[in-house]
Amino acid sequence: MQTKTIWINGKLVPEAEATLPFLTPALHYGVAVFEGIRCYATPRGPCVFRLQDHIERLFDSARVLGFRELPYTADQIVEACLDTVRANGFEECYIRPLVWLAEGGWNLTVDGGKPYFGIAVWEWKQYLGAEAAERGVRANISSFTRHHPNVMMTKAKIAGNYPNSVLAKTESLRLGFDEAILLDAQGMVAECTGENIFLVRKGTIYTPPDGTILEGLTRDAMLRLAEDMGYEVVAKPISRDQLYVAEEVFVCGTAAEVIGLREIDFRTIGSGKTGPVTRDFQTAYRALVRGAHPRSAEWLAPVYARKSPFPERPEELADVIDEPLGLTFQSGGGEVPAARHPHALARGEPERS
Ligand SMILES: Cc1ncc(COP(=O)(O)O)c(C=O)c1O
Repeated sequence: MQTKTIWINGKLVPEAEATLPFLTPALHYGVAVFEGIRCYATPRGPCVFRLQDHIERLFDSARVLGFRELPYTADQIVEACLDTVRANGFEECYIRPLVWLAEGGWNLTVDGGKPYFGIAVWEWKQYLGAEAAERGVRANISSFTRHHPNVMMTKAKIAGNYPNSVLAKTESLRLGFDEAILLDAQGMVAECTGENIFLVRKGTIYTPPDGTILEGLTRDAMLRLAEDMGYEVVAKPISRDQLYVAEEVFVCGTAAEVIGLREIDFRTIGSGKTGPVTRDFQTAYRALVRGAHPRSAEWLAPVYARKSPFPERPEELADVIDEPLGLTFQSGGGEVPAARHPHALARGEPERS
């Protein structure tokens, strides 16, 4: 299905009419902030994952860029996102709100122009390819360094930050890899071009601290799911060779979801297949975004209002999930029993079936 309608400054307009003048400073200087959000088909109709959190990050990004006054509130933009999904009739889609500098700003200040808002939605399935979730993907350490936080603001999704990702990803694909891992200015692992990164070693999960990275909402979801499943996660600086000797490495982001890295710089990671811990996170995340997890109600915004968007007993939803969840839910109301604890992995105990 094609994108039919785009929301621009408070109005839904046909896609063909959503055009910008060539003399738009955001186009020339990258002075715009944006979000990437997913809407999923659930048993209760299309629902947007962590909509409120994404829009809060959009407003935070605008603040970081220096915008002082914005013409809309976060609540209005949340509603506008839902309106745009409804107007296009998608069951599943990607949602792209953008705030850009228009009408001036040629003096290289945000004060010289006006912030304009737009929201587009489109169908976007597997970002890293159809087989990525099953087989994992191949990555390289990029020759490009991730931004230093005093050069570009890494907490904000500023359009002008993204040529750094484009340089790294283009290089990576031309070299025959699927994704690039960027090191920070100190030479430690930062993140991928559009995903955060985790490794599993000797029963513990590690992830880089949040100093130089974008604080991904999927990363945050992983941290919460880890707690639920009884996994210990340690945020600490990670060197590139710690990735090479990890049992598992996985990346996560709104577009990519949860994907294992089966090879980095021509070194096989672990067994060279998506490992059991990565699988646990993939399974839990899939349940979460599709309305079949105890945390789903907290994080899914239904596109079409209903009295009670989620059933109390998540097992009623089992038939709508693409594949078995691998999670069991307590019948009374939604606690996820602890997954196989990582220390069990270290002791070589068998995987949960
Ligand atoms: C550089 C970068 N890191 C990490 C992420 C993951 O963030 P999220 O999980 O909020 O999509 C993204 C995607 O937006 C990104 O662009």
